[in-house]
Amino acid sequence: MAINEAGAASNQRRKGDHLRIAAGPGVGHRAGTGLEAVRLRHRALPESDLASIDLATDLLGHQLAAPLIVSAMTGGTQEAASINDRLARAAAGTGVGMVLGSGRALLEDPDLRETYRLAARPPLLLGNLGAAQVTPERALRVIDLLDLDGLSVHLNPLQEAVQPEGQPRFRGVLARIAATVERLAPVPVVVKEVGFGLDPEDVRRLHQAGVAAVDVAG
Ligand SMILES: Cc1cc2nc3c(=O)[nH]c(=O)nc-3n(C[C@H](O)[C@H](O)[C@H](O)COP(=O)(O)O)c2cc1C
Repeated sequence: MAINEAGAASNQRRKGDHLRIAAGPGVGHRAGTGLEAVRLRHRALPESDLASIDLATDLLGHQLAAPLIVSAMTGGTQEAASINDRLARAAAGTGVGMVLGSGRALLEDPDLRETYRLAARPPLLLGNLGAAQVTPERALRVIDLLDLDGLSVHLNPLQEAVQPEGQPRFRGVLARIAATVERLAPVPVVVKEVGFGLDPEDVRRLHQAGVAAVDVAG
């Protein structure tokens, strides 16, 4: 099932580049997170016991120890295997959710399965596909190959526009997301951004398309 004319090899090289670049110097965001403006009010008289504070939550029908998800990062390269294994063991050990990296390489070569997941099983485990690549059939295939609880679809029009092997084809994406939601139901479809946030109008349209949750990312 080839989904990119540029081929699996260039895709894998790109995923390797992402890891090397992210681990290198000078990649921090210069504009801050927006949280600099937030100051929590200190209350010296809380009238509650620390032991009574429970962060456990239900997300997409799965019980998490805290409302945290390790967001989609990698898969498809040899380095990805140990990174995903360590992230999955950390998420499983602490009871939080995890999204695997883009399944584009996996669709091109199902033998790459072990670079996405080994034995550890977080309480919520989602797969990932780009909006430019997602179809109901590909979504089902990724979920089936990796035995997942759902799919997270990433919106990355800027990235697709500037990557040499990118597919900057975003016409009809919303309809394909809606078709994927319908085909996968009751298995949930989440939509995420890759670091630049989501506009409220886009969130409204995704809600109308039936997506179970959005991850605003960044
Ligand atoms: C090395 C690296 C690889 C990533 N790969 C993916 C990916 O395959 N799919 C995806 O949806 N997002 C990917 N992302 C984006 C992250 O999931 C996340 O949305 C982004 O880092 C913004 O969140 P942050 O502000 O908490 O870092 C990647 C990010 C990094 C740093």
